[in-house]
Amino acid sequence: MQWSRIAVFASGQGSNFAALAEAERAGQLGGGRIELLVSDRPEAPVARRAEAAGIPSLLLRPKDFASRELYEAGIVAELQRRNIGLIVLAGYMRLISPVLLEPYAGRIINIHPSLLPAFAGKDAIGQALDYGVKLTGVTVHFVDGGMDTGPVIAQRSLAVEAGDTAESLAERIHRVEYELYPAVVAALAAGKVELDGRRAIIRA
Ligand code: GAR
Repeated sequence: MQWSRIAVFASGQGSNFAALAEAERAGQLGGGRIELLVSDRPEAPVARRAEAAGIPSLLLRPKDFASRELYEAGIVAELQRRNIGLIVLAGYMRLISPVLLEPYAGRIINIHPSLLPAFAGKDAIGQALDYGVKLTGVTVHFVDGGMDTGPVIAQRSLAVEAGDTAESLAERIHRVEYELYPAVVAALAAGKVELDGRRAIIRA
């Protein structure tokens, strides 16, 4: 499996997908190529972004399958057919089962809009605002069987301003994501990330 053959999974707007596709176009994805978009919501804007970028997509509705396992088995077959070596979750709002985790162990990453382990799960930005933290941020991590619990690869912090709303904070978080995620994917695609226990090391 080649690290440079990438599938991006997304459920919604796909602005991170677009940032990754733009980084590839600009030659800034470490030689990585986005070979496929996988979405569980065929009507999501991300599907139109993939079409516009000329990237093939696999659009499957989980409710059309008898179980989550069968839904994921269909995805795994397509990933293997395309020799995908790295799965990049970018706003993919589903937990992954062992059917997908096992064949891709250590090869699935996620981006989350908080400094994990703070504010895992849904609505991380709202959770951070409600808690009243002064610093929050973005985490890129390997995916394991838990909810946002895998080893951290990279984090960036940013300040929460006094007048922030969920919208204003999300906008600044997104801007950080659009820089951080392509940089981490580039490092992985180029084979520069090592894992020592829970500690990920990005080699220069
Ligand atoms: C991103 O902010 C990402 O960090 C978040 O969803 C957003 C997707 O935006 N992911 C999670 O909350 C995962 N728990 P996008 O569709 O515009 O890229």
